Amino acid sequence: MTSRVRGVIARSKGEPVEVTTVLVPDPGPGEALVAVQACGVCHTDLHYREGGIGDDYPYLLGHEAAGVVEAVGDGVTSVIPGDFVILNWRAVCGECRACRRGRPWYCFATHNAQQKMTLEDGTVLSPALGIGAFVDKTLVAAGQCTKVDPAVPPEVAGLLGCGVMAGLGAAINTAPVTRGDSVAVIGCGGVGDAAILGARLAGARTIIGVDIDPRKLELAQQFGATHVINSRETDPVERIQELTGGNGADVVIEAIGRPETYLQAFYGRDLAGTVVLVGVPTPDMRLEAPLLDFFGRGGALKSSWYGDCLPERDFPMLTDLYLQGRLPLDKFVSETIALDQVEPAFAKMERGEVLRSVVKL
Ligand code: APR
Ligand code: ZN
Ligand code: ZN
Repeated sequence: MTSRVRGVIARSKGEPVEVTTVLVPDPGPGEALVAVQACGVCHTDLHYREGGIGDDYPYLLGHEAAGVVEAVGDGVTSVIPGDFVILNWRAVCGECRACRRGRPWYCFATHNAQQKMTLEDGTVLSPALGIGAFVDKTLVAAGQCTKVDPAVPPEVAGLLGCGVMAGLGAAINTAPVTRGDSVAVIGCGGVGDAAILGARLAGARTIIGVDIDPRKLELAQQFGATHVINSRETDPVERIQELTGGNGADVVIEAIGRPETYLQAFYGRDLAGTVVLVGVPTPDMRLEAPLLDFFGRGGALKSSWYGDCLPERDFPMLTDLYLQGRLPLDKFVSETIALDQVEPAFAKMERGEVLRSVVKL
């Protein structure tokens, strides 16, 4: 029987989001119906609302979520009703050229639900990142459900579904940071702070947080930065070099997505260091720099999509570390809010007042 539930949609470009009735089909083959318990508010949700990702309105927003499996369709064996799961947007296919080459984090054919969630008049909704989780119940591909220890609070677990995983993974999977490394993180919002945590987890010796907002530098220290730089007041490249014996950092993680901060990352690394771009640029942005500078340095320039994570490998590992007190994920939850508070949460996010607002259902 179709479920009638509340959900947050972006009806048209630039309009405030609204809570409305959403119809969710019963799970078909390979699908799972999940009762959402918590869902974080991410920049990507705002980008959908503003038309920065596509024009397939209306969108069902929300994608950083945890909940309990309520029902599964035919053929589903990976989860059963009652399982506590984190939703992911990387249910890998196992068959595309990336998967076959043993690099499933680049999977080109990730699974989503086949059936559509709709408005009451039958209008088909486009779920954000193939999830759609600012809603009481959502329909996903079973592979989008990763079972984790139910002892983790849902508002904490859900964060691993997107932004926090992106930052942690940029450090532990993409770079990857190893014991003794010097690491600089440019941009200390939720993603950058997660990168700092990841660097600490991986055993980095020096962790430098760079931001223009003193509130964010304070947080960066709480997450494990050994040094911070206010790049409005101090040249970050020079200061990173000073803090790393004149050489630059072994790894610099750019967690903003801007050309000028990317160049800071590029010039702030050691000659054979690694730059990881995890911040998401906009289509109009251009990079201008002498090509010779690129030739003149070794090392690696990498991009990190979703922290190069594999949900089945990474989520249970990270939730276990959280439960052991080794990964303070709860520090990312700035506030918990109700379903009708997503619009004000976007404003707080834009003003830089929160790391994460999390909707509790
Ligand atoms: N120099 C240094 N820091 C800056 C600059 C700058 N020029 N511009 C912005 N910042 C800082 C902000 O002060 C803020 O602390 O970058 C941080 C960005 O953090 P958030 O806005 O909270 O964004 P976050 O959720 O961390 O995501 C960062 O990663 O996944 C992507 O889409 C996401 O592009 C975004 C990025
Ligand atoms: Zn694949
Ligand atoms: Zn996100």
